[in-house]
Amino acid sequence: MSENQFRVTEEESNSIEIKSDNCCGPDCCSDEKEIIAAGETEKSVKLSNKEKSSEEIKEMVKRKYSEIALQSREVNASSCCGAGGCSDEVYNIMTDDYDELKGYNPDADLGLGCGLPTKFAGIKEGDTVLDLGSGAGNDCFVARAETGAAGKVIGVDFSEAMVAKARLNADKQNFNNIEFRIGEIEDLPVNDGSVDVVVSNCVLNLVPEKLNAFSEIYRVLKPGGHFSISDIVLSGELPEKIQKAAEMYAGCVSGAIQKDEYLSLISKTGFDDVKIQKEKEIIIPDDILIRYLNEDEIRDFRKSDSRISSITVFGIKN
Ligand SMILES: C[S@@+](CC[C@H](N)C(=O)[O-])C[C@H]1O[C@@H](n2cnc3c(N)ncnc32)[C@H](O)[C@@H]1O
Repeated sequence: MSENQFRVTEEESNSIEIKSDNCCGPDCCSDEKEIIAAGETEKSVKLSNKEKSSEEIKEMVKRKYSEIALQSREVNASSCCGAGGCSDEVYNIMTDDYDELKGYNPDADLGLGCGLPTKFAGIKEGDTVLDLGSGAGNDCFVARAETGAAGKVIGVDFSEAMVAKARLNADKQNFNNIEFRIGEIEDLPVNDGSVDVVVSNCVLNLVPEKLNAFSEIYRVLKPGGHFSISDIVLSGELPEKIQKAAEMYAGCVSGAIQKDEYLSLISKTGFDDVKIQKEKEIIIPDDILIRYLNEDEIRDFRKSDSRISSITVFGIKN
């Protein structure tokens, strides 16, 4: 899903409501159409994300974000199936908050984040900061305002189009201590023990091999280094129809795992002092759910303990 379809507003109740503007619905925005277009078989059309291989998921993710990189923010915001196809698996959760942060560069903000990891990252002057899935560089520019000219910021993204956009944004500001590298989070092009702070915004939910991702974060951090990561997680069982609705309309959800499992992966990797710095519930509005559930099912879901949340989590490598 993209901000093509939704604006997401932070509510006073500490929850996030996804508002649908002009979504074109599953006929237009589904994976199924995309896979058929790629010439695959009828059988593969029916594969859910869970049944796809890690490589297939990653290729799909890379293709979608490369399409988004080539669209302007205005196009993303105003059209459902904009240039290059229908980017239905990305969405804008808390973009407005960035305005308050030093270093914020609107050109780099494609509205793809789900938190403010830099705000909770404790970045110090002179630090080396690594941003995973850096997109057009949004969090890198905010991090650079904290590290100052004495520090260094590295963004890694596997979409060449995103990296090109980020490099252009850095060049426009004449920054010579921000570097964007093409690479995979599961195999980071970064030396062992070379980074003070890792940040990431709404990316690891898209990575099928999450344990590999956290192991790589552990490897590149200096002893005593830490991470601050914003991501989407689930709580409780999401009924199949809710999963379907969420997958179609909030793509970051399709690869998201249970919050407990997410935190346990982090601890298993070896991180200490793991804590959630901020948590917000993401509320899928009724006008989206009604496409998949009847009114009784919606009411039951609302009453249940099942949740989709954005968390900003912190951990230290001791
Ligand atoms: C939801 S966007 C977030 C972009 C950026 N963090 C922001 O907030 O604007 C996810 C980004 O992660 C990148 N990405 C997803 N999976 C990746 C992986 N396995 N390795 C490297 N980059 C990845 C995508 O290309 C995309 O640019």
